Amino acid sequence: MATFVPPQDRKFKSPHLPFGDHQDAPFYGHDIISVSQFSLSDLEYIFGVAKEMRAMVERVGTFDLLKGKILANLFYEPSTRTSSSFLAAMERLGGSVIPINEVTYSSVAKGESLPDTIRTLECYADVIVIRHPEVGSAELAAKYSRKPVINGGDGIGEHPTQALLDLFTIEEELGRVDGLTVTMLGDLKYGRTVHSLSRLLSTFAIRLNYVSPEILKMPPELVEELATKGVSQKELTSLEPVLAETDVLYVTRVQKERFEDQEEYEKVKSLFVITPEIMQQAKEEMVVMHPLPRVGEISMELDTDPRAAYFRQMEYGLYVRMALLAMVLGKA
Ligand code: NCD
Repeated sequence: MATFVPPQDRKFKSPHLPFGDHQDAPFYGHDIISVSQFSLSDLEYIFGVAKEMRAMVERVGTFDLLKGKILANLFYEPSTRTSSSFLAAMERLGGSVIPINEVTYSSVAKGESLPDTIRTLECYADVIVIRHPEVGSAELAAKYSRKPVINGGDGIGEHPTQALLDLFTIEEELGRVDGLTVTMLGDLKYGRTVHSLSRLLSTFAIRLNYVSPEILKMPPELVEELATKGVSQKELTSLEPVLAETDVLYVTRVQKERFEDQEEYEKVKSLFVITPEIMQQAKEEMVVMHPLPRVGEISMELDTDPRAAYFRQMEYGLYVRMALLAMVLGKA
């Protein structure tokens, strides 16, 4: 039989190399699937680019670094911040976006498989961001895509770009990461943001406290993974014993959509509410973060407290996502 090699199999990932792309740029053509892929020097590089992005946005608003590039924003799960910040990031860089938020209007609703949807989008776009309810979906998408794939949250798995923006927030707000005590609170079982962030923080000399109801504890495999890396971790069911020593209080929403039994959800949904009164026990120099949306776990009265960093956190996210898009497309 003839050995015909189809053109796509003769090429490497991200085959388009228009004039001006830097093939030797770090992360050129790479997928971003898990925080485990980042070394300390990668993080320094990403944050350096993010700071340049911030300076450019402050100076000129929008510029043409990714002019002519197209992002496919493929969201199988609801999203406000992740989808709109990737969209804003691409547009601030002069690129454009194919937004696919309502999967019910696309072929996915007709039963198309994820690999086929990816094969379709890679024909039209230069980079794909995917959010999907199943763990491992971003990795699967990356396997089938010749264009870089960025994980925008795979079920209860990971949310690497959120963890990067969380880390950037910590560094910008407190000026350091080493030596800090980070307390994660809320739904540590189903919250993908804390899974990625704790992993990413394990690159640093930090202490981690996990505060959650018994049924929403950090997955034991993850605790074990971090223990083998020598991270000091404490699991609690109350915030009180650790609040005074906390430098970063990372609050999360109880993930209603992940519960099989809604009665279980009702039992744990309002166990923790951070109020100005509770915050009297916390340090003066510390931050309260939240990936948002919040559904009652931080009272609105806390919003004017200078330690409330959750709205600033969203803005840091724009610069980090601009940096990531520019990097995987070989422009940074
Ligand atoms: C988070 C998510 O989707 O995992 N949101 C976000 O990306 N900013 C957190 C959440 O939904 O609770």
